[in-house]
Amino acid sequence: MAATRIEIRSDGSIKVEGDFELVDQNGNAFGLNGRTRIALCRCGHSENKPFCDGAHRKCGFQSTIVAFDLPPVPTTPATKA
Ligand code: FES
Repeated sequence: MAATRIEIRSDGSIKVEGDFELVDQNGNAFGLNGRTRIALCRCGHSENKPFCDGAHRKCGFQSTIVAFDLPPVPTTPATKA
């Protein structure tokens, strides 16, 4: 099992659980006070972004998620020396 589990919840948040670090775009870490499980907002309506505050239920956010495979990573042509 991976050290970190990320669950994309249908009609809801992104649940992150395990060993992880949450940082802003400048690399500054959020103080999680020992939490090993958080929910990140996916609907855009949380008053406490990036965390979910349950607002997705009130705004009627709908997004059914079913896991699928991404296509292979495109390869870049080798550069000539
Ligand atoms: S996903 Fe929960 S408030 Fe946005």
